[in-house]
Amino acid sequence: MQPYNTSELSKRKIGKREVHCFHPGEENIDLETVQSFGEEWLKFNAFSAEEIKSAGDQYFDIVTEKELNDSSYVLDLGCGSGRWTKYMASKSKFIEAVDPSHAVFSAIQAYNDLDNVRFTQAGVDTIPFNDNTFDFVISLGVLHHIPDTEKALTSLIRKLKPGGHALIYLYYALDNRGFLFRFIFNVSTLVRRVVSKLPHALKQFICDLLAICIYLPLIGLSKLVKAIVPGKLHMKIPLVYYRDKSWNIIRNDALDRFGTPLEQRFNKVQITSMLKAAGMSIVRFSENEPYWHVLAQKK
Ligand SMILES: C[S@@+](CC[C@H](N)C(=O)[O-])C[C@H]1O[C@@H](n2cnc3c(N)ncnc32)[C@H](O)[C@@H]1O
Repeated sequence: MQPYNTSELSKRKIGKREVHCFHPGEENIDLETVQSFGEEWLKFNAFSAEEIKSAGDQYFDIVTEKELNDSSYVLDLGCGSGRWTKYMASKSKFIEAVDPSHAVFSAIQAYNDLDNVRFTQAGVDTIPFNDNTFDFVISLGVLHHIPDTEKALTSLIRKLKPGGHALIYLYYALDNRGFLFRFIFNVSTLVRRVVSKLPHALKQFICDLLAICIYLPLIGLSKLVKAIVPGKLHMKIPLVYYRDKSWNIIRNDALDRFGTPLEQRFNKVQITSMLKAAGMSIVRFSENEPYWHVLAQKK
C-alpha cells in the first residue's frame, strides 16, 4: 500500500477504520449520477458470497493468474458497494478501492474484515496515487457514467505501470444485436430519462415495478424458449443475461438501468480506439456477457 500523494479534504471514521476523502473537487463527474449511486449502494450492499463469485467469474473470465495474482497492487475505480474488491481480495496483494459516492462508507462496513483493502472517497480526477503505480486496475460499469469517458479512461490508465493490465467494462452499443432488440432498448432509454429524474424512493419503487413487470417475464420467456426450442434462440431474448441471477441482483440492475441520469454506450471499435489512445494494447475482449468487457495491457 502506497501513501496518498496529496492531502485529503476530510476524513471520516467508520468503526476502527478511517476513510480519507478527496471528493468533491473533480471536474469530469456527473454529481447527480454519483448521488444516485450513493443512494443505490446504501440499499444494495449485501451481496452473498455466491452472488459475488458467480457474477465476478463472468467479468473475470478473461483474466488469468498471469495478470492478477498475489503480488498485484490493484486499483478498483468506481468500486461502488465493493463487491469486485471483495472478489479480488484473495487473488491480490493489496487493493485500493476508490469511489466518489457515499458507497465507500457502506462498503467499508460490509468488508471490514478484509485486511488487504483500503477504501477511499475520490473520483477519477482525484485518485490520490502517483502515476505508474498499479499492476492491475479495474473499472467495471463506471466510465460510461462519467461525462468524458475517454478522458477518464486516460486518467485511469496513467495510474497503471507500464506492462500492467486493465479490466474495463463499458455498456455496449448493442453492436451485436438486431433491429428488434435495439428498438426495445431505445424505448427503455426514454423510460430511463423520466424515471432517473424522480425522487429516490419513488424511483426505487418504479424500478422494482419494472423489474417485476419486465425483467421477470422476459427471464421466464427465455427459460421457456430454452426448454422447448433446441439451439440458442433463447439467447436472443432481451434480459436473458439475468436467467441465473438472484432477485437482489435483478432489482439492483433495474435501478442501475432506469435510475441513472447519465449513461453512455460504446461499440467494440470505439472501445478499442479509446484504449489505444490511452496507450494500451488489447489482450482480449470477452465474447460473453456482460458486453463489452475487455482486458488490455499498458505498453
Ligand atoms: C454502476 S456503479 C458500478 C459499481 C461497481 N464497479 C460495481 O460494478 O459493482 C458506477 C460507480 O461509478 C462511480 N462513479 C461515478 N462517477 C465517477 C467518477 N467521476 N469517478 C469515479 N467513479 C465514479 C459511482 O459512484 C458508482 O459507484
